[in-house]
Amino acid sequence: MTTELAASVTPQMLANDPYETLRQLRSSEPVAWIPSLNGWLVTRRDLAVEAMRDATAFTVEDERFTTQQVLGPSMLSLDGPEHERHRKPFAASFRPKTVREGFEEFLFGEANRLVDEVRTDRRAELRTSVAGPLAVNTITRFLQLEGVEPSNVLSWYGDISEAIVGLAEGLAIGDACRSAVAEVGARVEETLQIGASEFLQGLRSDGSLRADELAPATIVVMFGAIETVEGMIANAAWHLLSNPDVLNRVQEQPGLVSAAIEESLRLEPAAAVVDRYATRDLNFGGAHIRKGDLVTLSLLAANRDPDVFDQPDEFNIDRQNLGQHVTFVQGPHGCIGLHLARLETEAAISAILGLGPDLGIDADVSTKPQGLIFRKPQSVVASW
Ligand code: HEM
Repeated sequence: MTTELAASVTPQMLANDPYETLRQLRSSEPVAWIPSLNGWLVTRRDLAVEAMRDATAFTVEDERFTTQQVLGPSMLSLDGPEHERHRKPFAASFRPKTVREGFEEFLFGEANRLVDEVRTDRRAELRTSVAGPLAVNTITRFLQLEGVEPSNVLSWYGDISEAIVGLAEGLAIGDACRSAVAEVGARVEETLQIGASEFLQGLRSDGSLRADELAPATIVVMFGAIETVEGMIANAAWHLLSNPDVLNRVQEQPGLVSAAIEESLRLEPAAAVVDRYATRDLNFGGAHIRKGDLVTLSLLAANRDPDVFDQPDEFNIDRQNLGQHVTFVQGPHGCIGLHLARLETEAAISAILGLGPDLGIDADVSTKPQGLIFRKPQSVVASW
């Protein structure tokens, strides 16, 4: 049965100012049928964790999953042994040590270079001048596709994501998307032929993926690393600049940067929800879920669960349990890029903090994080 509260929830509310609605849902019906989403919304942390860990009851395998319609099967849209086969070959490239050794110097250099480009302006919008470019430049370097520049990656990303969004609105996959996918495939093949790209060589030599699966796998990594990283950096910059006391502390003690990033990840997960589909009829968190129902896990709501986080809406970098957010998801589909994403954000924030002791936000033109699925501020205008 749908309650009045659940019936009143709209996608716009969840995108713009969701906190009070999510709080009410969590305390009264933590698994609620939301008619406007045509699915269940899970808002309690313990229930969200239970669902994300149990792929036998809550799966990603469903034809409604639009990414699968564009790219074909990949780790994003598979569960069980096939998921394992698709995911395993990536493990080596994303290990913390491999990421740090391969990318720390590049990332800090690149973040400082981007910040240097705006330094003398004494004012800049940080999402478009630092966060977005760092995300694209990093994944371009990570993939090392032969002859591919960040501008190519950005254009493929645009064409493919437009098709994914269009599919959800009932549109057919267009030519731009098909040729983007084909072009990535051609570049992957060429790169492998000349023996370039450590990443691709590792993927191939693992042997789990067939040759025709390497290009979609590359696109999955490309996709995971653009919107989310841009959002993660922009959210962290926004939280720090909007909290001048914390900003001062972190500027004086750079060792606190990681805590500030974790607390920003908790308060505003750049990917705010993940979707699952019930594999059978279930009684879950007081709800009667039917086989095939869409079950959306709100990471945003789980991260503000007062049973786990005191004063959950406060930006408090001194929390003892900072790491208990579920922004990178737990269980089989937990984010494989989290170490790289954290390092990118550490580099970006450290470079931004170096803009000077009078660094601050122009609150009149900056906007708070927003979005139903992906959350970030459109504009973080800093001056120094
Ligand atoms: C270098 C950057 C990143 C890469 C390469 C990356 C890649 C991936 C990949 C390939 C998956 C699918 C894993 C699977 O299905 O087995 C994944 C999952 C996920 N990633 Fe990332 N990611 C990155 C950054 C981020 C960031 C910054 C966030 C959020 C702040 C994020 C949030 C997630 C979430 C929520 C999932 C789980 C999806 C689900 O359970 O349905 N990722 N990531």
